[in-house]
Amino acid sequence: MTAQIIDGKALASELRDAVTAATRRLVAAHGLHPGLAVVLLGDDPASRTYVASKSRALVEVGMRPFDFKLPAATSEAELRALIKKLNSDPAVNGILVQLPLPPQINTSRIIASIDPDKDVDGFHPLNAGRLASGLPGLVPCTPIACLRLIRTVHDSLAGIAALMIGRSHIVGNPLAQVLLNENATVTVAHTFTRHLPELCRRAELMCVAIGCAEFIRGDWIKPGATVIDVGINRVAVGGKSRIVGDVKFSEAVEVAGAITPVPGGVGPMTIVCLLINTLRAACMQAGLPPPAL
Ligand code: GUN
Repeated sequence: MTAQIIDGKALASELRDAVTAATRRLVAAHGLHPGLAVVLLGDDPASRTYVASKSRALVEVGMRPFDFKLPAATSEAELRALIKKLNSDPAVNGILVQLPLPPQINTSRIIASIDPDKDVDGFHPLNAGRLASGLPGLVPCTPIACLRLIRTVHDSLAGIAALMIGRSHIVGNPLAQVLLNENATVTVAHTFTRHLPELCRRAELMCVAIGCAEFIRGDWIKPGATVIDVGINRVAVGGKSRIVGDVKFSEAVEVAGAITPVPGGVGPMTIVCLLINTLRAACMQAGLPPPAL
C-alpha cells in the first residue's frame, strides 16, 4: 500500500489566499496594515534563504516587511537596542529574530526581551508557558503548521499514540505540547532515548524534527501510521545537492497511511502560519477579534 501524500504546498496556497483576503479586510475596515520585523545577524546561507522567503511571503499577502540585516559581530547590547525600538514601534506588529544567533549573543535573553504580544515565533517564556498551561497565546509556527497538516487526515487526535522525535524549543517541545492539548497520548523521544525503532513501531502518529537526513527508516513505521517530517536537510547526491527530510521517504511511503513530503510538506505551511501569527498579533494589539483562519 502506498501512503496518502499530505500536500503542504497546496494547503499553504489555499491558506495564503485566505490570509490575503483577511489582510485586505483589516486594511479596508480599520486602516490596520500588519507589519513584521525580521532580524537577521550574519550571512548564514540557510538563514538568508529562510528570511528572504518570509519577507517575500509577507509582501505577497499585502503585509509590511521591515528587514534588518546586521553584521555577525553585532553585540547583544546593539541587538537589544534594536528590539527595544521595535517593541515600541506601532507599525511593527510582530518581531522575528532569526535563529541561530552568533555565539556572543545570549539567545534566551534576546527572546525574553521581545514584547510577548509581538512574539510571532511564540518562543517568549510567557507564550511558552501559556501553551504549556493550555491558555491562548502566540504558538510557534512549525508546530501549528504540523497540526494543520495532521488535521487533514485526523478529525480528532484524542487518545492517539503520538511520538514526537526531537525536543528543540523551536519544534519538538512546543509540538509535543500542541499534541497534548489535542488530547493525544504523547511520547517524546530524543538523543538519549533507547530502543527508538521499537518506540516508533507503536506510534499511530509520528512527528520527526531532528535535523538528521533520512534517519527514520521504513521498517520503523507502524503500518498505516501518519508521518509528519519536519526535517530540511541538504545532501549531496551524485555531485548535485538535494533537500531530504528526517525520514527515508521512499521506504516510509510504502508503509505509512499518510506522509508529508520534503520539500512541499511542513516547510510551506510554516511560512503561512507565520503570516497568520502576524495577523493575529496585529488584531490583538488593536483590540480586534482574531481572524477566523
Ligand atoms: N530558525 C529556524 N527555524 C526558525 C523559526 O521558526 N524562527 C526563528 N526565529 N528562527 C528559526
